[in-house]
Amino acid sequence: MKILGIETSCDETACAVVEDGVKVISNVVSSSSTLHSKTGGIIPEVASREQLKYMIPVLEEALILGEKAKKRISEKENKKNSPFSFSPFHSFASSIDAVAVTIGPGLIGSLLIGIETAKTISLLTNKPIIPVNHIFAHVYANWLDNKKVPKFPVVALIVSGGHTELFLIKSHTDWKWIGGTLDDAAGEAFDKTARLLGLGYPGGPEIAKMASSHAEFISASALSQTLKRVQGDIILPRPMIDTKDFNFSFSGLKTAVIREIGKTKQLNNDTISQFSYEIQEAITDVLVEKTIAAAKKYNVKSILLGGGVAANKRLSEKFKLSIARGELEISLHIPPASLCTDNAAVIASYAYFHHNPKPWQEIQTDPNLSVEVADF
Ligand code: KG4
Ligand code: ZN
Repeated sequence: MKILGIETSCDETACAVVEDGVKVISNVVSSSSTLHSKTGGIIPEVASREQLKYMIPVLEEALILGEKAKKRISEKENKKNSPFSFSPFHSFASSIDAVAVTIGPGLIGSLLIGIETAKTISLLTNKPIIPVNHIFAHVYANWLDNKKVPKFPVVALIVSGGHTELFLIKSHTDWKWIGGTLDDAAGEAFDKTARLLGLGYPGGPEIAKMASSHAEFISASALSQTLKRVQGDIILPRPMIDTKDFNFSFSGLKTAVIREIGKTKQLNNDTISQFSYEIQEAITDVLVEKTIAAAKKYNVKSILLGGGVAANKRLSEKFKLSIARGELEISLHIPPASLCTDNAAVIASYAYFHHNPKPWQEIQTDPNLSVEVADF
């Protein structure tokens, strides 16, 4: 079954075609993040105006790429040329079985663009629409083009710009939300502290880049062997790291960074790198500690990561280390960065595993869609 996914919940305009929930035929993402870099955060009106511009070209590209890939596959299989049309909308009706679209959570102006596009396609082609919760869909990056299929039960950590959520998932249709952030999300903590340091948006990759130069400095020093802090380093709190629940809190980190910046004589490349290093260490320490504790408590077979922050290299390093040190029999799944950040392939994949089509008239935007209650 081929599903066309559409994702416009934040600043991306994304369309993808995925076969049987696992095989990515096309995956096209256009992001307006460079525009937001100048303002240090997303301005919803700017995001949705860009999405209006890019929705149709991105849709066309996803369908054309899908057609090209289909042609290559059929050529391989038949060992002869088959007739091929570059007009995506003509071949569209016959090649796609359903349309999946993010209905929330997200920015209302942005969500509407994807939803209205999906409804129009459904009306014109008579294909069913599958409404998708964007946060749940992030988990499905772990099923895409993946040779190592996750084994249930799993603990999934979804860490994005707006969410930090932990789920216990026993099967595709048995989900339990076990914890989340009480205030700022992990990605938000990266974005806000990056802004305080004068770095661009999105803050996560900027902080990671600056942190790596400080990490190089540390590893060049003798202290690296003992993994101890370098004297004089900035020290930030690890909020809620010792609480027995699976909740998080990252807003205090931002306050601590403001306080430490106040004590710093000068913000230069060196001090920004030190701050970045410690911010990344603090956020990743808490994420790893809580997720591993949940995995142990529920005796799971796999840990899955998803969302933009899952692209963080230090985070994956620490997960691997923690599993190895604890001699845990848990397989760790971290999707490639392109599938961690917002994309429509995960929307199509989720829709395949939760096939719950609705008539287009019933599809509604839900900017505050809950992640704590799964209704499937
Ligand atoms: O999932 P996503 O693309 O969009 C949302 O649904 O929010 O996540 C975006 C978030 C941003 O906060 C960004 O700073 C963060 O993911 N991010 C990272 C990295 N790449 C993106 N955070 C840390 N390290 C990264 N390499
Ligand atoms: Zn997301």
